[in-house]
Amino acid sequence: MKVVVIGTGYVGLVTGACLAEVGTEVVCVDVNAEKILNLQKGILPIYEPGLEEIVTRNYENGRLSFSTDLASVIEGAAVAFIAVGTPPGEDGSADLKYVLQVAKDIGSSMSDYLVVVTKSTVPVGTAVKVNREIKQAMMDRDALMDYDVASNPEFLKEGAAVQDFLKPDRIVIGINSERAKSVLEQLYHPFLLNGRPIVFMDIASAEMTKYAANALLATKISFINDIANLCDLVGADVNMVRKGIGSDPRIGHSFIYPGIGYGGSCFPKDVKALAQTGKEYGHKLRILEAVEAVNDDQKKVMFEKIWRHFDGQLTGKVFGIWGLSFKPNTDDMREASSLVLIASLLQAGAKVQVFDPVAMPEARRELGNEVEWCTDMYAAAAGADAVILITEWNEFRLPDWPRVKTLLNEPVVFDGRNIYDLDFLQKNGFSSYGIGISP
Ligand code: NAD
Ligand code: UGA
Repeated sequence: MKVVVIGTGYVGLVTGACLAEVGTEVVCVDVNAEKILNLQKGILPIYEPGLEEIVTRNYENGRLSFSTDLASVIEGAAVAFIAVGTPPGEDGSADLKYVLQVAKDIGSSMSDYLVVVTKSTVPVGTAVKVNREIKQAMMDRDALMDYDVASNPEFLKEGAAVQDFLKPDRIVIGINSERAKSVLEQLYHPFLLNGRPIVFMDIASAEMTKYAANALLATKISFINDIANLCDLVGADVNMVRKGIGSDPRIGHSFIYPGIGYGGSCFPKDVKALAQTGKEYGHKLRILEAVEAVNDDQKKVMFEKIWRHFDGQLTGKVFGIWGLSFKPNTDDMREASSLVLIASLLQAGAKVQVFDPVAMPEARRELGNEVEWCTDMYAAAAGADAVILITEWNEFRLPDWPRVKTLLNEPVVFDGRNIYDLDFLQKNGFSSYGIGISP
């Protein structure tokens, strides 16, 4: 089967590479000519563990190719995936201009029956608009052809995207045609081993499923962050509370790790977009508004702890930052909490020296010369008044603490992800702060 994937970002590239890996012929299309040229040379636009290997392998064996010209590659395709961005518009709703442009491009270029699948995260009702664009484009060139529109939201996580795609918890497909259903069943069959389910439903429900999943995950995080902040006040340890509640299978251990707020390209925008859909329909999603407000505040919690420790005297102080990306194993800096903290420190007159194993080139676009770029975590600690752990990369898990202590002006550690043993640090002469672990 031949497939075209339009939009070669995180989702499009992972989708294309993983489909090719199991034997599908895939062309990844993007309007960004530089990205396509680089991919043809084996240079990936993103850092994603395991991706380079399967992109290279499948490019070399001819199953995966790259193009900027949809019209020249769409012929013979059974499925076209739309995997372009859906960034927030001014009011927070998902901006569909890229999705609808692609729908129009498909209608202008398709030459035979095609299943058009929206993989981008889109609000309920988008499939109807996609359908309209395709039909209009076909009418404009007097070429009416059969096609079906389906919704197949993507649930991969950055940093684990390849494994998530190859071994999905579930594949959700919104569809209203038996013909399209059998095409997609065939396409996804290789991913359904070991009882992994494919869940077919109507299109509106599939579109809503994606937002509901992200919104619930974001809710879990804001909930535990709120509890963590209360733990700080009442003298409880949120790590214990997390273990205590997570042992109940109805609650579960995942996504209840407190921290410095969720970031990334999806939770912040999807929570906003779903809240906006609620408003459009006169149904205020009060929980989601609180989730967003708690998250905005959570991005400031570490700065408040730093401010208190130094009695508000931050001018001229130096801070060493460990980790910049919004989570480990990615170079994605979109909505990263590190940016909020660094902006506050700089505004308070402090100096900031940073290290991230992978995200520094991306971060440089945001931070330019405002911070000092270091070659490793120890260089970031050298001469600093405190270190601040922002992103829990594995290489930050077991620092050489005696070395860190000699490097620091003052032995102070702020742990934004609760990965360090604060008692151990305190016994060894450090002042240490976590999230929801009262000192
Ligand atoms: P991205 O910004 O990384 O990539 C989008 C790509 O689409 C870009 O390369 C852009 O050049 C290209 N593009 C834009 N207009 C185009 C057009 N007309 N024709 C061809 N290419 C075009 O975006 P992403 O992170 O992959 O996200 C894509 C969608 O998937 C979003 O709706 C997002 O919410 C959703 N999603 C993302 C993730 C994730 O982890 N990043 C996970 C699940 C779902
Ligand atoms: C998230 C979802 O997990 C994916 O299922 C979804 O497909 C994707 O959004 C999307 O729609 O784009 P992602 O943003 O890549 O994936 O990463 P997550 O692992 O979900 O982390 C998001 C943020 O939440 C990070 O900043 C992370 O540090 C934070 N987080 C996560 C916590 O603070 N605590 C937790 O317990 C878990």
